[in-house]
Amino acid sequence: MTSFWHPFADMHAVETNGSTTLVRGEGAYVIDDTGRRYLDATASLWYCNVGWGRAEIADAVAAQMRELPAYSAFGDLTNRPAEALAERVSSLAPVEGSKVFLTSGGSDSIDTATKMARRYWQLRAEPDRTVLIRREKAYHGMHTAGTSLAGIPANAAGHGELIEDVTEVPWDDAGALRAAIEDDGPGRVAAFFCEPVIGAGGVFPPPPGYLEAARTVCREFGVLFVADEVITGFGRTGDWFASTRFGLDPDIVTCAKGITSGYLPMGGVIASPWVAEPFWADGAGLWRHGYTYSGHASVAAAALANLDIMEREGLCERALKLEAPLLDALLPLAEHELVEEVRGGVGLLAAVNLRQDLVADEPSLPAQVGMACREAGMLVRPLVGGAIAVSPPLVIGDEEIAEIARAFTAGLNAVAAR
Ligand SMILES: Cc1ncc(COP(=O)(O)O)c(C=O)c1O
Repeated sequence: MTSFWHPFADMHAVETNGSTTLVRGEGAYVIDDTGRRYLDATASLWYCNVGWGRAEIADAVAAQMRELPAYSAFGDLTNRPAEALAERVSSLAPVEGSKVFLTSGGSDSIDTATKMARRYWQLRAEPDRTVLIRREKAYHGMHTAGTSLAGIPANAAGHGELIEDVTEVPWDDAGALRAAIEDDGPGRVAAFFCEPVIGAGGVFPPPPGYLEAARTVCREFGVLFVADEVITGFGRTGDWFASTRFGLDPDIVTCAKGITSGYLPMGGVIASPWVAEPFWADGAGLWRHGYTYSGHASVAAAALANLDIMEREGLCERALKLEAPLLDALLPLAEHELVEEVRGGVGLLAAVNLRQDLVADEPSLPAQVGMACREAGMLVRPLVGGAIAVSPPLVIGDEEIAEIARAFTAGLNAVAAR
C-alpha cells in the first residue's frame, strides 16, 4: 500500500499490479531497486536532455543552496543565478532582445502565456481580443489554462468549462486557421498556441510549410503566435529552439523540461521585445502575476550548469546529427504486424504508432507493448491513439539507437506472440 498518488495514473491498477521504483541514473540508463538497468528511450518525460548522473549540476545546486537557496523575486528583489539565467535564455531565444519570465514548469508557463497574451491586448487598448486558438491533438499541460487548450479530448473531459473563448482548429491546416480567425472576428483573437512538433498528442512533426504558413496567417491578423516549446526547446529538435529551426519569429515562447534537463523543476516564458514593451513601459504599473518560486536561485543554478553542459558537449548539434539515424533505425518497425506507421525526423523525437484497428479492439495494447519493452530493458511511453513515444537523452549514440530498435522489436514480438 502506498500513499503516493501518482500523476496520470490509474491508482487501482498501480496498487493491484505494483510499481517500479527507480533509484539511480547513468547517462542514457536508469536503474531500479532490484538492480535492473533500462535504456531510457524517453529521457523520462521528454526532459533529461543531458542524461543522468551529472554531478556538476548537483554540485552547482549544492553550492547555491549553501549561499542562498532561494528568495522571492517579487517586486524589486532578485538573485544572481536568476539574472544570469534570464540573460542566457534571452541570448539563445529565437527573437533577439526577449525578456524571460521564469516559472516552475510547463503548465505554469502556459498559464502565464495565456494571461500575458490577454493582458497584452488590454494594454494595447484592444480588450476584445480574448480568444485563444488551440490545435487538435495539442497538449499544453494540465493547469486550468492548459486543460482548456487541450486538443486531446480525454484530457479536458470531466472538468466542466474552465477558461472561456477557446477555439479549436485542425492541427495541420493553415487555411483552417485563417478561416477560424475570420470566423471569430480578427479583432477578437488574442493568440494561437502551437507546438512546433506535437508531442503528447502522438509525436506529429509539422507537415512541410505548415508552421511557416500558420505564422504568416497570425502576422496578417495581428494574432500573437505562441510557440509551446516545452518539449522542443533546449536541443530536442536539433537547435536551441524549434522556432529558430523553422524561422518562426514567435511573439511568445513557452519552455520548461530541457532548461534544467529536469534536475530541478523550472519553466519559462520568453516574450519578444514587442510583447514585453507595454508591460515594461512607464505607467504600465504592477502586473499581478507570478509564482513563489519564479526565479528560484537553486533551480536557476541547475539550469545554468545544464546549459553549460549542453553548450560544451554540442548537444543541439548532436540531436541534429542523430535525427536521421534514429528515424532510420525505427522505420523498419513499420513492417511489424502490430504497427501502422513510424513518425519522426525532426530531432530526437519519434513515435511508433500501433495499428488503429488492433487498438480499437484491445485498448490496452499500447500499455502492453510499453510493458513488454520494459521487460526487454527499455522504458518507452504509450501516448494517445496507440502511439508509443521515443525521445531519448541527447547524449545517446549509435549503439543506443540500435538498442532502442532491438528492444522495440522484442517488445512488439512478445505482444504479437500472445
Ligand atoms: C508541449 C507541452 N506544453 C506544456 C506541458 C506541461 O508541462 P509540465 O508538465 O511541466 O507542467 C507539456 C508537458 O509535457 C508539454 O509537452
